[in-house]
Amino acid sequence: MLGLLLLQVLASCLWLGHSEVVNSFTSCPQFFYARIPPNDALNPKNPAWICQRFRNSYHYATLYDRDRRIPVYSAYIYQPGPGSRSSSWYAEPQLINPTYSRDIDTEKSISNRYKITLQQIGQSQAINQDYNKLQGLDRGHLSPSGHQSGNNSRWATFTLTNIVPQNSTLNKGQWKDYENQTMAQNTQGCRTTYVITGAVPGNTYISNNRVNVPSHIWSAACCQTNTAMKTWAVIAGNNMNQVQNLTRAQLEANLTQLYGRGQVSLFHSACPP
Ligand SMILES: *[C@@H]1O[C@H](CO)[C@@H](O)[C@H](O)[C@H]1NC(C)=O
Ligand SMILES: *[C@@H]1O[C@H](CO)[C@@H](O)[C@H](O)[C@H]1NC(C)=O
Ligand SMILES: *[C@@H]1O[C@H](CO)[C@@H](O)[C@H](O)[C@H]1NC(C)=O
Ligand SMILES: *[C@@H]1O[C@H](CO)[C@@H](O)[C@H](O)[C@H]1NC(C)=O
Ligand SMILES: *[C@@H]1O[C@H](CO)[C@@H](O)[C@H](O)[C@H]1NC(C)=O
Repeated sequence: MLGLLLLQVLASCLWLGHSEVVNSFTSCPQFFYARIPPNDALNPKNPAWICQRFRNSYHYATLYDRDRRIPVYSAYIYQPGPGSRSSSWYAEPQLINPTYSRDIDTEKSISNRYKITLQQIGQSQAINQDYNKLQGLDRGHLSPSGHQSGNNSRWATFTLTNIVPQNSTLNKGQWKDYENQTMAQNTQGCRTTYVITGAVPGNTYISNNRVNVPSHIWSAACCQTNTAMKTWAVIAGNNMNQVQNLTRAQLEANLTQLYGRGQVSLFHSACPP
């Protein structure tokens, strides 16, 4: 009897522990439709849930793969508007040490403030040096600055936890057209558009095996119009200049296969397949 009781207590502890991990964008659920993030099937072995904070407010959310030093995805609300590009790049202090500042900051400032070297920053994440001297690859934003409004929100996207090595031709070609034109077309009539943009890990790395080069970049959106909910999705191979239109269900089926960790669900069920 006592054994059974202990077993029950243990089981409920395990269950609680589990639900805490599922629910880990606790400071920034507002970037997901109905405050529901994608399911666990995208989670890498060593994830970090980042609420991207800059100048005291949250701008979007990122699931980060600590081993491959690239984001799995960034989730944000589409709200293009005025503002400039940032002239600095930022890093995430909390990946170095959870007691450090919650706001993204430059490597130089982090290094001065906490008396640590660039190398120490680079142990937990990609740093500028990893992205210098790349050939044919750009710093590809998952949450792009052009989908944000105001300097603070735009500059908050210039942090390396939101960046993957993206084929330059794709980044400046069809992916840019998708971000600039297709998104503007598709969001006509939308009130609030929730976007999740991600990268499938590939087989190659840059910077001495430090940073993974994704095999695919993908994006999905869910919006509420005056009459209904609507969704759309795209995927692009990261060695081609071709963006393919898909439905939500088609993208989820592709991602289920590409990640190989179970059935992927990107949005709450109110967003149509
Ligand atoms: C945004 O930043 C640019 C460049 O630093 C500056 O010229 C502009 O005044 C800023 N805009 C606002 C609204 O602060
Ligand atoms: C299109 O994208 C480019 C680069 O990402 C940006 O500089 C430009 O302002 C965008 N144009 C429009 C109309 O959104
Ligand atoms: C980028 O894509 C182009 C095709 O658009 C391809 O020719 C090129 O080899 C790719 N570059 C890299 C570094 O993958
Ligand atoms: C994908 O859809 C957009 C918007 O409906 C359209 O402008 C674009 O041409 C389509 N791309 C392809 C390759 O069919
Ligand atoms: C994704 O799925 C579509 C059809 O649903 C298929 O045509 C396409 O080849 C798939 N793409 C990838 C990258 O798996």
